[in-house]
Amino acid sequence: MTDQSALHDTKAAYDAVAPLYAELFSDILDRLPLERALLAAFAELVRGAGPVADLGCGPGHLTAHLNALGLNAFGVDLSSEMIALARRAHPGLRFDEGEMTALDLGDGVLGGILAFYSVIHTPPVRLPAVFAEFERVLAPGGHLLLGFFAGDDPEPREFDHKVTLAYRWSPGSLADLLCQAGFVEVARLVREPGEGERFQQAQLLVRKS
Ligand SMILES: C[S@@+](CC[C@H](N)C(=O)[O-])C[C@H]1O[C@@H](n2cnc3c(N)ncnc32)[C@H](O)[C@@H]1O
Repeated sequence: MTDQSALHDTKAAYDAVAPLYAELFSDILDRLPLERALLAAFAELVRGAGPVADLGCGPGHLTAHLNALGLNAFGVDLSSEMIALARRAHPGLRFDEGEMTALDLGDGVLGGILAFYSVIHTPPVRLPAVFAEFERVLAPGGHLLLGFFAGDDPEPREFDHKVTLAYRWSPGSLADLLCQAGFVEVARLVREPGEGERFQQAQLLVRKS
C-alpha cells in the first residue's frame, strides 16, 4: 500500500463514520478518569507556552476539553466530515483540514501537541516522518501527549479496528521511535482495558529536547 492510498483509505473511512463516531465518543472523557488526569497534567505543562494542536482531532471534543483547561488549542484532521462536525459542535474554536506529516505550521510555533488515537492508523514505516513533523513544529521544550492501543510485542501489530486498519504498539517501542526523533520521555501510563475495550490503553508524554 502506498502512503497516498493509506491516507486516502483513512480519510474515506472516517468521512463515512463521522456522525456515528461523534455520537459514540464525544463524551467519552466523562468515563475516563486516568486520561483526564494526564490531559490535566499536559495542560499544566504547556499552559502559556504557545498554541496547542490537537492532531487527528476527530469531532473536536478533546480540542474543546483542552480549551476548557485554559489552553489556546486548535484541531487538525484529515477527514473533512470530522472537521465539519467539529466546527458545528464548537463554533468558537479553530479546526483545519490537514495531514500530520505536512502541517501548515512554521517551525517551533507550538507549545504542545495532542495526538490521541490518531497515529494508530499510520503505517509503521511512516511513523518516523510523522514524529519528525511533530518535532519540527514544536518549540524547544514543547510537550507531546500520545494516546494509543498498547501491546506487549516489540513489533507493531495490525488489528481489525472498527473504522480502518490500525496498529497496536508497545509503549517501549513507540518511546524509542520518539527518542530517535528528538524527544525525551516524561511519563507513560498503561491501563487495563475497561468495559467494551479489547486492549490495554496507553499514553506517552514526551518533551522536545
Ligand atoms: C480514532 S480517531 C481519534 C479522534 C480523537 N483524537 C479521539 O481521540 O477521539 C482518529 C482520527 O485521526 C484522524 N487521522 C488519521 N490519520 C491522520 C493523518 N495522517 N493526519 C490527520 N488526521 C489523521 C482521522 O481522520 C480520525 O479523525
